[in-house]
Amino acid sequence: MNRQIIVLDTTLRDGEQVPGAKLNMQQKLEMAEQLKRLNVDIIEAGFPASSRGDFEAVQAIAKKVGDQVGITALARAVKTDIDAVYESIKLAQNPLIHIVLGTSNIHLDKKFNRSKEAVLQMGVDAVKYAKTLLPHVQYSTEDASRSEFEYLWSTIEAVVKAGATMINVPDTVGYAVPEEFGDLIRRINERLKNLNDEVILSVHCHNDLGMATANTLSAIKNGADKIEVTINGLGERAGNASLEEVVMGLKVREAFYQSYTNIQTTELHRSSRLVTYLTGLDVQVNKAITGENAFAHSSGIHQDGLLKDKQVYEIMSPEEVGADSMELILTARSGRHAFKNAVERMGFDTSGNEDFEKLFERFLALADSKKEVYDHDVFYLVTNHRTVENTSV
Ligand code: KIV
Ligand code: ZN
Repeated sequence: MNRQIIVLDTTLRDGEQVPGAKLNMQQKLEMAEQLKRLNVDIIEAGFPASSRGDFEAVQAIAKKVGDQVGITALARAVKTDIDAVYESIKLAQNPLIHIVLGTSNIHLDKKFNRSKEAVLQMGVDAVKYAKTLLPHVQYSTEDASRSEFEYLWSTIEAVVKAGATMINVPDTVGYAVPEEFGDLIRRINERLKNLNDEVILSVHCHNDLGMATANTLSAIKNGADKIEVTINGLGERAGNASLEEVVMGLKVREAFYQSYTNIQTTELHRSSRLVTYLTGLDVQVNKAITGENAFAHSSGIHQDGLLKDKQVYEIMSPEEVGADSMELILTARSGRHAFKNAVERMGFDTSGNEDFEKLFERFLALADSKKEVYDHDVFYLVTNHRTVENTSV
């Protein structure tokens, strides 16, 4: 029987760490609503010990969507960070404390300048403390892919015995390659199943060598139960494994991976657009799944083949990932329907009817003054309208 893979989205934590990607409270809530529509299992909402603003944003997200989506936030292995996470997520239905601490010699020597035993003990103490607050605790062995296997395993064994319910194995600097990372996960999985088969094994891959998606899929093939990903692959440096790529990799090749996610794939495009609009960080045109050219066919041979049967050159349909198969050009002649479609395509909510009418009037005024209204005009209209009217549409 195929396994369900748990999807943790960390766009609001690892993604938001990216220079230029800082979001305000309203934007974070907007994003969290979209992640709920996308049906992710867990949202990593931030790093509450980092600032008052981050703490409040995590708390607001936990209140807004925490009744339907699991909520976590990041803590270093210190009490004050763990307290901040607990206080910010405790109102969610399914709160999870996420603790991170390095396991590689580089981290131990250069970052902590402490012995292996002392760092391991810090991790164990942190987990024991977190367990006094909440039942679910994830432990991330930072820089796992550059760690000595036996030390990595003794850390995992010790924190599981201390009560960790999820072990997350990060390829923090994107150093791993698929065969090797898969092998690492297989070895950990074998021992973990013998130690405590209820503990969830998770992976978190970075894209420094362009292999985050491949490493994540290889980990799934080798027994990982959970993946940490971001929309558009946004994240530190070259980014994280992209949610849309891993999810569609599993969907299109489900028979090979014998795994699936509960992601609502028709929301993928909208999620990607929303991240682009909110952060201002564009997706490359040839990006898999969500790039502008992902479903564009230009060569005559391909077009001919497609006209005979789409399957000739299509492994998934644009509709399956929520991409438009047709383009609607907005002008002063466009009606409410087309405008509403454009606003919703960006991930904005249009349910406030009266308010939408005001927004539509603004659109018509703008459309009268120019030939075509582009996506960036619509985005400006919506965000400006919200500031002026102080509303949610
Ligand atoms: O890349 C990393 O190691 C992280 C951890 C906090 C999981 O982001
Ligand atoms: Zn990371």
